[in-house]
Amino acid sequence: MCGIIGYIGTKQASNILVKGLKKLEYRGYDSAGIAILDKDILIYKQPGKVINLEESIDHQVENVTMGIAHTRWATHGEPTVDNAHPHTSNNGDIVLVHNGIIENYKFLKDELIEKGFSFEGQTDTEVLVNYIQLIQDEQGLSIEDAVKKALQNANGAYALAIIDKKEPNKMIVTRKGSPLAIGLTDSNDEFYVASDAIPIIEYTQSLVYLNDNEVVVLERGQKMKVTDIYGVEKSYKVKKIDLNLDKVSKGDYEHYMLKEIFEQPATIKNTLYSHLNHENSDIHFENLDELKEKLVNASRIIIVSCGTSWHAGIVGEYLIEELARIPVEVEYASEFRYRNPIITKDDIVMAISQSGETADTLAALRYSKAQGATTFSICNVFGSSMARECDFTAYTYAGAEIGVASTKAFTAQVAVVSLLAIQLGLERNQITQEKANSLVEELKTIPSVVNQIFATDDHIKKVAKNYTETTSFLFLGRGINFPIALEGALKLKEISYIHAEGYPAAEMKHGPIAMIEESLPTVIVATNNEYYDKLVSNAQEVKARKGPIVAVVNDDDTEMIQIADHVFKVPRVSDLLQPIVSVVPLQLFSYHVAVFKGCNVDQPRNLAKSVTVE
Ligand code: M6R
Repeated sequence: MCGIIGYIGTKQASNILVKGLKKLEYRGYDSAGIAILDKDILIYKQPGKVINLEESIDHQVENVTMGIAHTRWATHGEPTVDNAHPHTSNNGDIVLVHNGIIENYKFLKDELIEKGFSFEGQTDTEVLVNYIQLIQDEQGLSIEDAVKKALQNANGAYALAIIDKKEPNKMIVTRKGSPLAIGLTDSNDEFYVASDAIPIIEYTQSLVYLNDNEVVVLERGQKMKVTDIYGVEKSYKVKKIDLNLDKVSKGDYEHYMLKEIFEQPATIKNTLYSHLNHENSDIHFENLDELKEKLVNASRIIIVSCGTSWHAGIVGEYLIEELARIPVEVEYASEFRYRNPIITKDDIVMAISQSGETADTLAALRYSKAQGATTFSICNVFGSSMARECDFTAYTYAGAEIGVASTKAFTAQVAVVSLLAIQLGLERNQITQEKANSLVEELKTIPSVVNQIFATDDHIKKVAKNYTETTSFLFLGRGINFPIALEGALKLKEISYIHAEGYPAAEMKHGPIAMIEESLPTVIVATNNEYYDKLVSNAQEVKARKGPIVAVVNDDDTEMIQIADHVFKVPRVSDLLQPIVSVVPLQLFSYHVAVFKGCNVDQPRNLAKSVTVE
């Protein structure tokens, strides 16, 4: 989704802003722009990549020390120069960048048109900047007060950075529903603003995450001032962020996605050991104590999430129901709150999210909280909105995930949910201490198991080469491997643009079998569990209709290997832990297919890393 970067200080602003935009590229965008305040406001905007914008910037802007910049992921209006941010008010004084959607923009636009305002593009943001001007014109307010007044009448979500050339020493920033962080330095001479910590962290580790409806004035030489949109003063907390910049680079890898796939032994291990007592390997979720009783006695756990995190939620459903015998429902966050769900105060609503900012998941959590449920998140980004708003957060320690296709965040989510299920099983006397210990000990071997799969990467790559012209795939799985079929299909379609559908294997006969023919390969996740024989039969059914088969099987497989055209072998682990292993060859397969097809693996078309609008 859109990315915002802002700087006010003593250094040359445009370099900081362009560098920041490059670090935000991973969020997904289709145009970019920058505004710097010299004697006048100078604006540069380009459709396409940040590099186009960089090349268009006039280099006589060396001494300018304040500006705002933006990568836009189109919502209202195509990715044209007119629709790119920053947007300027009709009088040319105010300029702003925005992440989010102003939902009542049509209503505000009508009022503005009636009062003589004109518009160059179609965006809701252009309406907002002019609405701020209207309030200034009519009420003679400072930029700070005009922004507050305007926001009292604007519905929707926003993170905003705003400059008014009449007050050249100030920048106003604010948020509601969309993330925004402010970087502070020891002096009050410079401030950094960004959609996330990544572009700020090389300058300062002291970050403030704004809360909804807070408006901040950043003024050189002054302490940052925070109020709400009604002018009531607010305090703020400065967080020290420990984010290693080396880990946010591609290193020697061709793509972030590949690096992140190969990081998994380390990220799974970090995640596991962060929730295990070092001395005796007991599972320990920091700060859970107060809520533990509620969780252990929960009548139901509702998991809300989107995309890959939703698939981790389904793995969680199998694990928690099997080990702890608590009923679990897994919901698409985007559907959940719109169907008037029945939620009680005895329910635990658990969000799974890499970013902790996905708009639908956040909204589902807020809705559940308002209904009295206890909220819990499994989340990868420290200080994210979900982590701050939930009653409890269990972090995944996957490090920054830059590739749009989620890989290491998924396996870290599955690692946390596995530990949680084991712990709940134990506390509820559903499993013995021996069973818990043996699962934990086995989990500890998963990083080395994943490393063994990497030894087969050349083979996976060779297999991938056979499928670069394929236009459609079916993915099948059963039991706890069903969500891995879904995840394999999602990975392939999002980065290689090949149509792929994930199905529970037994459902094939109820429809998808009609599609089977020579040109439609089926990927079957067929590790050796209680459904193995049934999966072998499914494979026979596909073969009988001339469909090619790629199968994920255990090392010691004897039957599927005879039927499939290609196999990806993975070490055998307990059934309940197999998903975290079986997903890895499918991540590599989709990566190689996409690279062979020449696709932009890390920034696939139309996708955003973190979907912060509904
Ligand atoms: O940050 P979240 O985990 O909440 O994001 C959820 C989805 O947007 C995300 O998993 C998306 O499906 C990825 N592109 C999948 O690779």
